Amino acid sequence: MSAAPQKTFYLETFGCQMNVHDSEKVIGTLVHEGYRQVQTVEEAGLVLYNTCSIRDKAEQKVFNRLSDYKKYQKQGKKFAVLGCVAQQEGEKIFDRAPYVSLVCGSASYKNLPQMLVQIEAGNQRVTGLDDRETEDCFETEFTARTNPHRGYITIIEGCDKFCAYCVVPFTRGKERSRTSDSVLAEARQMADLGCTEIQLLGQNVNSYKDPAGKPGGKKTFAELLTAVGEVPGIRRVRFTTSHPRDFGRDIIDAIDAVPTLCDHVHLPVQSGSDRVLNAMQRLYTREQYLERIAWMKSAKRQISITSDIIVGFPGETDEDFTETLSLLDEVGYDAVFTFKYSPRPNTPSLALDDAIPDQEKSSRLEVLMSHQKEIQITRYKKYIGETLEVMVEGKNEARRQWIGRTSHNKTLNFTAPDTSIPQVGSYVRVRATQSFPNSLLGELVI
Ligand code: 5AD
Ligand code: SF4
Repeated sequence: MSAAPQKTFYLETFGCQMNVHDSEKVIGTLVHEGYRQVQTVEEAGLVLYNTCSIRDKAEQKVFNRLSDYKKYQKQGKKFAVLGCVAQQEGEKIFDRAPYVSLVCGSASYKNLPQMLVQIEAGNQRVTGLDDRETEDCFETEFTARTNPHRGYITIIEGCDKFCAYCVVPFTRGKERSRTSDSVLAEARQMADLGCTEIQLLGQNVNSYKDPAGKPGGKKTFAELLTAVGEVPGIRRVRFTTSHPRDFGRDIIDAIDAVPTLCDHVHLPVQSGSDRVLNAMQRLYTREQYLERIAWMKSAKRQISITSDIIVGFPGETDEDFTETLSLLDEVGYDAVFTFKYSPRPNTPSLALDDAIPDQEKSSRLEVLMSHQKEIQITRYKKYIGETLEVMVEGKNEARRQWIGRTSHNKTLNFTAPDTSIPQVGSYVRVRATQSFPNSLLGELVI
């Protein structure tokens, strides 16, 4: 008797690092359940989309993709929608795309094995949508990490902040932390396998609360960061995303004390205007934000600071926007991710009047980006002549350049003589010789 053909799946991920890492865990779970990952929809029996709904274009992409693949339905392929659009749209997805058989939000991934059995049995309209109040994180020993040198570890899931514009608390559910013991065990395991860089992940890592542990053994976020940084073999630790409200000085003290903690902090500000920050329910003022920036600037190493900014929040005036521009000058960011405000289902800001016309949002975005570009040109120039340590990430064959990343999280591409070919994943020293608004170019120091 010949063996049954192996079940195959294709998975596509949209959105943030949390989604990318969730997909690594979903892939590991599927493989453990006997599936084989394939690289095209054509080859797959099961097609999964891990979706994002942070802004409206992200969500539209998923629906476009699903309608592109409608033709495959006749071939008996099964479709699953996972992640934030799944949680947000729920069973409506079945109405819009009846060939979808599974809709599952991230808070329900721990039940994936049972749901897979159901869809394989031919059940239609299988859902995992009711776990947003869960206390559990999605922990699995089967995470399928593709990069052997650096990897993510989730330390906290969900969000309880309810910023006025943000859909995340509705899609990812209640805030819940993993135990520090479990995070550290994962970090040690990764280090044992040769991984040297770890990025701790969460919607708001600074509100990490160690749920268990021996009496007196509970760790704060800064203590967890320190402990991960002290795992033998780990050379770089990063963390994202931070919320200014919960960002304590102890994090900077940890960066000062532990050399493996990278000298980079991503601290989304969203706006430079107190009026807008208040309307966004961000729970801090410009002054309080700048206080945190001052801690970073007083650190022993120069800390690279990056941020997220939303333009065109309802009611944002020209004066408010000007305050955002002046904040860019005051902080001196090394990178800023800029977004046009996008109204999201369920969010409190939907009820606000004074929507900003799209054209105005676009022009503010452009002004903001070109202002920031000027700042970056000046900031990146300062590195010319400096020697920096980079992790080698790969090679750009067309340019005959190696791709490197600094502890500051900057891209530093470099040339190396044929006699000194660097290993991907190794750490080398590179002297910066040219600067661009978003990257540096240099040569290997032998
Ligand atoms: N509109 C535009 N940008 C948003 N972000 C989150 N929600 C929205 C929204 N509704 C941005 C914020 C956040 C980043 C991940 O996405 O800047 O920090
Ligand atoms: Fe959204 Fe605010 Fe939570 Fe970040 S902190 S995920 S912006 S609600």
